Amino acid sequence: LVLAYVDVRSGLVDERLTADRLHRFADRAPAAAVAAVRRHAPWLISGGDSDYEWIRPVVQAGLRTSADAASKGMIAQAAGELAASLVARGRFDVAGDYALALSGQVLADFLGVDRRDAARLLAWGDDLITFFNDVEISVPASERMARSAAALVDFALHRLTATGARSGDGFLALAARAAADRDLGLAEESVGMITLPFLTGTLGVAHLVVNTVWLLLTHADQRARLTEDPSLISGAVGEALRLIPPVALVPRVALERVALGGAIVESGETVYLSLAAANRDPARFSHPGVFDITRPQAGALAFGYGAHSCIGAGLARMQTAIAVEALLRRAPDLALDPEGEVTWSTIPGLQTPQKLDVRAGHRTPQ
Ligand code: HEM
Repeated sequence: LVLAYVDVRSGLVDERLTADRLHRFADRAPAAAVAAVRRHAPWLISGGDSDYEWIRPVVQAGLRTSADAASKGMIAQAAGELAASLVARGRFDVAGDYALALSGQVLADFLGVDRRDAARLLAWGDDLITFFNDVEISVPASERMARSAAALVDFALHRLTATGARSGDGFLALAARAAADRDLGLAEESVGMITLPFLTGTLGVAHLVVNTVWLLLTHADQRARLTEDPSLISGAVGEALRLIPPVALVPRVALERVALGGAIVESGETVYLSLAAANRDPARFSHPGVFDITRPQAGALAFGYGAHSCIGAGLARMQTAIAVEALLRRAPDLALDPEGEVTWSTIPGLQTPQKLDVRAGHRTPQ
């Protein structure tokens, strides 16, 4: 486990440490877990590092319209409607009722599929996130992840082969066309490699929304500053990313013997780079435990660093800012529900409340 900022950052760019989560999976995992992945989604463990050469540009092509004005308008409208209905209810869970529900709608719209498919997309995403953010490879989690990855690919392939589906400008259609330009057919592997990060990333946005709201609800002074100056919303999201990055740990598998942070990582061993600890390193950020939405956040590592840093970072910040702003605008009196609960994820690499019960008044939107 690597904690110091300088060590985490050098680990992220060290080419002797592969970013492939499933590198030599068959050597590291229990036999039954390997068998489960082979049974449901064998393409997951047959890929290699060369995948990254095409995944990045193809995913990027898929995101081409995601941050344009029409997309922003669509997210703002969905967020506003959902927030208004929850505020009218009075009590709700920011995680399940708001952030996840909104991410589900946005995911369906971006993929270019029916919003009624959102619930199963989110359930598959949850299985993927649970597996990829754990530090132990368990048989049941591997089996669920592989089944869900297979179901996701099946779903995406069906949508892509439907009449006209490839001519739209949803993520799937754009990515499929970019893949075809590189002579990559619609094989399970290529469709899987592009839809998996999109799905887990969209769930990451939901986690970031919850973390930002939680921090604002528990820091009255910072919330008052944001109310006074709404342009600080991007600072609030950036500070939430620094203080509680949803992806807390990034795994790397050593391709050879590597010295890092005063320790030796043997070839084939997994090392966890803690983005959460790096972002609170006092050698890099002054008063690192303080939530301050006006502080300079440059250098924070919530989206990784270097060649494998997050492609969806801009989109994630944008969506989160819209979602948090929409909720706080419709519920200026939003507060933790004294009769409700806040329960945090117990998966080691995932920092987010799974439940964040709040209460709000019945004011009408402005
Ligand atoms: C708040 C939301 C998100 C968080 C916290 C997050 C976090 C991260 C982190 C930490 C990495 C680096 C992984 C590593 O170094 O091994 C990463 C990579 C990546 N992210 Fe995100 N992400 C988010 C949203 C998204 C979205 C919306 C997308 C949309 C497609 C996305 C796509 C990707 C891809 C494709 C990579 C892999 C890049 C590569 O390996 O070359 N992410 N993300």
